[in-house]
Amino acid sequence: MISSEREEHAISTRLVSPSAVSVDPSKTNDYDSFAGAYTAANETNLVNAYYERPAMLALAGDVAGRRILDAGCGSGFLFAALRDRGALVSGFDASAGMLELARRRLGDGADLRVADLGGPLPYADDTFDDVVASLVLHYLEDWGPALAELRRVLRPGGRLIVSVDHPFAVNLIHREAGREAECDYFDTIKWTVEWTVGGQTALVSRWHRPLHAMIEAFIRADFRITVISEPDPDPAARELFPEAIAVEPRFLCFLFFVLQAG
Ligand SMILES: C[S@@+](CC[C@H](N)C(=O)[O-])C[C@H]1O[C@@H](n2cnc3c(N)ncnc32)[C@H](O)[C@@H]1O
Repeated sequence: MISSEREEHAISTRLVSPSAVSVDPSKTNDYDSFAGAYTAANETNLVNAYYERPAMLALAGDVAGRRILDAGCGSGFLFAALRDRGALVSGFDASAGMLELARRRLGDGADLRVADLGGPLPYADDTFDDVVASLVLHYLEDWGPALAELRRVLRPGGRLIVSVDHPFAVNLIHREAGREAECDYFDTIKWTVEWTVGGQTALVSRWHRPLHAMIEAFIRADFRITVISEPDPDPAARELFPEAIAVEPRFLCFLFFVLQAG
């Protein structure tokens, strides 16, 4: 795929004013309605395919033989990559539409379930060596119940590997749009963007929280922080996205943690 075709698969985002966001929550984060377009973008774009996913895989390291839960697995790219590396992977997501695409990718035998991060999870205590949670925690206002469940299904000493929106980047997006009044860095606030992807538009709301609030939530849930990472893009990005990398060879987009269950 040449560079211009890759750019067509980019997700363009527009910050939406809180007052313009519909009060009907079913109109936001409706991944079922844009599962196909999101998946096509995620497969090849810079921030998912050549930044977030390689960073998660690098943090996971050698996973051969490890039992791994992919929380918010979406259409299963990370699940597939971990399984290819010899891990025994299970995954869940709130979106049946995303899971349908994951099922097509991963086959009938894959352990995929519809479940809500934040509610009780359908796994026994101490089941997993690792949980990976890529770009999902920031959909939750309260991380407490979700982290408690992830801790419960991890064996003691197991790892929780997380990527979330970088709080400084979210604050910067608001500043650059002249909307700093809507995002005090120190507050936990809901922010909304309109994504245009594959000719479709969708409203996506996530929760910004400052770094100290993330750390407090991890510690309260009995996790110890072993790594905080602000990685570079994959080296392949330089050739595949020359214009973007020329402007910003390094950028803040997501923040990554490796946590150890107590
Ligand atoms: C940005 S996508 C990331 C998907 C996948 N982790 C990846 O990186 O390719 C966010 C995913 O989180 C899922 N999600 C959002 N809120 C969730 C919740 N409360 N419980 C489970 N999944 C959720 C969405 O359905 C979507 O598949």
